[in-house]
This record gives sequence, structure tokens and C-alpha cells, in this order.
Amino acid sequence: MARGRFITFEGGEGAGKSTQVRRLVETLARRGIEAVATREPGGAPGAELIRKLLVDGPASRWEPLTEALLHIAARREHVVCTVWPALERGQWVISDRFADSTMAYQGYGQGADRATLAALHRLVVGEFVPDLTLVLDLPVALGLARAGERDAGGSGRYERMDVAMHRRLREGFLAIARSEPGRCVVLDASLGPDDVAAAVERAVRQHLGAALHG
Ligand SMILES: Nc1ncnc2c1ncn2[C@@H]1O[C@H](COP(=O)(O)OP(=O)(O)OP(=O)(O)O)[C@@H](O)[C@H]1O
Ligand SMILES: [Mg+2]
Repeated sequence: MARGRFITFEGGEGAGKSTQVRRLVETLARRGIEAVATREPGGAPGAELIRKLLVDGPASRWEPLTEALLHIAARREHVVCTVWPALERGQWVISDRFADSTMAYQGYGQGADRATLAALHRLVVGEFVPDLTLVLDLPVALGLARAGERDAGGSGRYERMDVAMHRRLREGFLAIARSEPGRCVVLDASLGPDDVAAAVERAVRQHLGAALHG
């Protein structure tokens, strides 16, 4: 059995990650590929417990490196309990956020030392990287407006952080994508959901076409 492929969606609040994860799982199913949808922080029972510490409460609850350590602890549970076993079974894994979010939010956005974050990542998951990362990019105000509408005012901890932080994290995602062009594809997420889904499909075909027809 061939190992599955690991695809991650990244981007700021309201970019459409969760929407496109669902759609890609459906698209793959139509092609006869079994894919599991998962998310970070979370995606495993212990990681979902840690998630609550991260997405609820006051925006200033954690010091940036502490916050990154919580994300990384959750990630360890996620990859060990969920991602790696599924890939071994031959399933594809589609994750709503992964390690780039830690680098973008806690590194670029909140100012934790980026070399330290990279070292911690290697310590915990080694050289494991996604086969493809889709960075959904859109203006900060549009993303926050979409997320605000969806949540009808009851926004989460990250949505409540200031706009300057959200601008830095958008730039962070773009910088990560520029530094790893073989892995990352930036997509215009200000388009409608069908257009974004079509762009996702094209990127998957271009990067993982052989596996798709395999
Ligand atoms: N391309 C799109 N155009 C317009 N609205 C969209 C688009 N994609 C998603 N939406 C809507 O915008 C809101 C946010 O989308 P979604 O929850 O998929 O984003 P997200 O990136 O997962 O957000 P978060 O970071 O808050 O989890 C939802 O109400 C969704 O229906
Ligand atoms: Mg989401």
C-alpha cells in the first residue's frame, strides 16, 4: 500500500480553510482517494484538550513562546495519533492549519524567535513536512469580516487580536511560501468558494498528479 499524501491549508482568519478542506476531501473521494480531514490545533483527543487553552480566553492569555509550545505539544499528539497512522494506512490527510501557522502567528505575528520555533518543530516532528501546502491569501479586513459573520459576534481568541498582528501574520505566510516554493502554493482566497476550489484542484493536480492517477 502506497503511503498517503499530506496536504495542509494555511492562512489567516476567515480565509476559507475549513470550507476548502471539506471540498478537497469530497473532490478526492470522487477520484477514489480516501482522505481524512483534520485540524490544528487539535485533530487528536489530547490535542483538542490543548486547543481549548489556545482558542478561548483573553487575547493576552499567553506569552508567545509559551503559546507556541502549547501548539507544538498539540501537534505532537496530532501527528503521532492521527496523521502518521492515516498516511501509513494509505489515506490522504488534509489538515486545516499545520506548522506554518505556528511560524506565522507566534513567530511573525506575535514575535517569538523564529529560529527557536524551527528548532522546536524539528525536535518534535523531525523532517516531516507536508507534500503540499495551500496558502489561502486575502486582505485582512475581508477575512475578519467573513469570520465575524460566520461567528455572529462570538469570535475566538485569535480573531480578537489587533489588526496589526493580522497584517504581520499575512506577510509571514507569504514569506514562508516564498522561501519554500516547491511545497507552498499561494491562492487568491478573495475569490468565491467555487473559484478557490478550482484553484485548489489545479494545484493538487500539478503537484501530486502522479499520485492522483496512481
Ligand atoms: N471563497 C469564499 N468567499 C466568500 N465566503 C467564503 C469563502 N470561503 C468561505 N467563506 C465563508 O466565510 C466564512 C469563513 O470561512 P471558513 O470558516 O472556511 O474560513 P477559515 O479560514 O476556516 O476561518 P478560521 O480561520 O476562522 O477557522 C464562512 O462563513 C464561509 O462560509
Ligand atoms: Mg476554520
